[in-house]
Amino acid sequence: MASGPRKPGKQKLSTRIAHAGRDRKLTQGGVNPVVQRASTVIVESAAKLFEPGGWTYGRHGTATHEALKQALVEVEDARHCALAASGLLACTVPFFALASSGSHVLVGDNVYGPTRRFCDRSLKRWGCEIEYFDTTIGAGVAKLIRPTTRLIFVESPGSMTFEIADAPAIATAAKAAGVVTVMDNTWSAGVFYKPLALGFDLSVQANTKYISGGADVINGSILTNREDLITKLKESIADLGINVAPDDAYLVLRGLRTLETRMERHQASGLEVARWLKTRPEVQRVLHPALEDDPGHALWKRDFTGASGLFGIVLKPASTKQVHAFLDALELFGLGFSYGGFESLAIHCDPQLKRTATKPAFGGPLIRLSVGLEDPADLIADLEQALAALG
Ligand SMILES: Cc1ncc(COP(=O)(O)O)c(C=O)c1O
Repeated sequence: MASGPRKPGKQKLSTRIAHAGRDRKLTQGGVNPVVQRASTVIVESAAKLFEPGGWTYGRHGTATHEALKQALVEVEDARHCALAASGLLACTVPFFALASSGSHVLVGDNVYGPTRRFCDRSLKRWGCEIEYFDTTIGAGVAKLIRPTTRLIFVESPGSMTFEIADAPAIATAAKAAGVVTVMDNTWSAGVFYKPLALGFDLSVQANTKYISGGADVINGSILTNREDLITKLKESIADLGINVAPDDAYLVLRGLRTLETRMERHQASGLEVARWLKTRPEVQRVLHPALEDDPGHALWKRDFTGASGLFGIVLKPASTKQVHAFLDALELFGLGFSYGGFESLAIHCDPQLKRTATKPAFGGPLIRLSVGLEDPADLIADLEQALAALG
């Protein structure tokens, strides 16, 4: 197994993701890989029963899983991929694999709530010290690193508050101290942001979101160029007995084939809706790193090649009753705790914001919008009529 950065493929991303994982061994002549449901594997000979690296049991993956992994590594030009049964598991496995009693971990204050809950509830119980930090401090993270620090976990942009981290600065500080860096890269789907190329060791995806794109499967993955790390991650996954159902792997791969095209549409529609919202008197601020006046815009422009359809808006001060009236008036935006699917979604963020290292004060209710693949003019019309319900 090779380590070190992988050269980007010669063909463009959409070509590579259309063709990856389609070896005849995996497809048996169809366009798509077979959905290989297997617990038991019949091993060819007694000598092969205990052969290292041999495929001997369904939990270790099947042809369908192999096809998905081959396609996922193309998205972020990674060498290695581990699959997880959910995006959350893809976030938590690196902690499980790399931290132990007495370890100190640095976690972005703006990470996805359940990642934080895992740290506070499980990781702490295992004797690890968790320190939340403001990911916008960039190189300043060096001062927080201790001899016992094992891992720095960052989400950029934060999936509720949309701050952008200076990933190369964090990676440089971590590398100097031998600390492993993990990026939750779900927002960009890996299409618009390549943390491994910026020096991060692991890039995590909740494939549940943009990668699969159909709002019908829960799945995650971890990408890396480091052989030592993929070995540790795979050992932890094996120890935990984590299994991704072949049907789920198939669904993720089916969605992945159209990822780049969908992301372009999410980006264009998201920006159109965001720019319209900026003109609205009911809206105080739009949190979208691709907007020129966003505090993270310069870093976004330097490190990202595009934006997904997920962003936030801060309304002018309004009561919970008014916020609910706005949300309940939406007809095309469903109220749902997800994003990345073809359908637009909205949620009220304030009840979910948990912060200890930073105090984001928005001065009004924070709403997160996931702009789907509907026509943006229809989405704008929906928002316009719902804003009227704010009163
Ligand atoms: C940034 C981020 N990471 C991880 C996850 C977890 O993904 P899953 O729902 O597949 O466990 C989510 C889900 O919303 C997310 O937004």
